[in-house]
Amino acid sequence: MERLIIDTDPGVDDAIAILLAIYSKKINIEAITTVCGNCSLEQATKNALKTLNIGNANHIPVYAGANKPLRNELVVAKVHGDDGLGNTSIPESNKEIEKEYAPDYLVRIAKQYPKEITLAPIGPLTNIAIAVENDPNFAKNIKRLVIMGGAEFGGNSSPVAEFNFWEDPEAAKIVFNAGFDEIVMVGLDATNKVVFSPKLREYLKHINTPIAKFIYDITDHYMYAEQIETKIIGCVIFDALVTGYIIDESILELKDCYVDIATEGICKGQSVVDNDGQYHNGKCNARVAYNAYDKKFFDIFYNTLFEEYHKDIKLILDTEFSN
Ligand code: BDR
Ligand code: CA
Repeated sequence: MERLIIDTDPGVDDAIAILLAIYSKKINIEAITTVCGNCSLEQATKNALKTLNIGNANHIPVYAGANKPLRNELVVAKVHGDDGLGNTSIPESNKEIEKEYAPDYLVRIAKQYPKEITLAPIGPLTNIAIAVENDPNFAKNIKRLVIMGGAEFGGNSSPVAEFNFWEDPEAAKIVFNAGFDEIVMVGLDATNKVVFSPKLREYLKHINTPIAKFIYDITDHYMYAEQIETKIIGCVIFDALVTGYIIDESILELKDCYVDIATEGICKGQSVVDNDGQYHNGKCNARVAYNAYDKKFFDIFYNTLFEEYHKDIKLILDTEFSN
């Protein structure tokens, strides 16, 4: 059982990533920590609570964290809609959040269970950077980080920068240089290979469980908004690859690299990927995903969330990915 904390700014794809983790038999979610990014902290926290409610997981504690990036002003991501969940009217949850500040909670729990906790940051890295700065032992107390962020080639918030790192580049720089035992960087190079097509989405309508309906509804605006940005028919559900990878590591191919983050100028937020640490005396600080297997991912996605439909899912995926 993987003891997992998801640090998140829900966000349509964040919500999907959380649901995958809730329903996986391999993951035990210790807590959700929220951060501003796709939307304000307040909205992100509301959306995390709504997602737990839909997933029948109200026992999972939620801690709110940073309400602004370390240095920049917050710039929200339009693709997730005004409410961060695709302009839907998902009912509010009446679950209360914890009183402790998310970075303080992260420091405390890592100290209590050294090297037992996997952290999945799928928003800007602000909370994680604050935890690193507040406790010199924090990085060493964490088992591993599996991050959605960055890209070796190309960006989605600038020609070279991915949104989560672009939103808070100082935080990303602090995290990559903090000395974590293991960082897996799931960036755009991998996530963009896994497209949630209109056809795959349409099956959710037929499955029609509350989770299927929720994912169908929240991806409506998102799919069209993403399509305008990327010119791809369908959408990429970036963050879900992080929890998908934690469930089954064979969905991604990784390579050892040294990653550092540009914080200034036209390259702001760019993750500079040095393969095999060639320019760092062979030192590497991250494993970077350079490839992803779409059929394998969707197999995990559908079978984790809708196990009772496994026969139909096999047929659907064999048809969708026939070549
Ligand atoms: C990342 O940016 C956000 O909009 C998504 O939730 C994801 O974490 C992709 O660049
Ligand atoms: Ca996110």
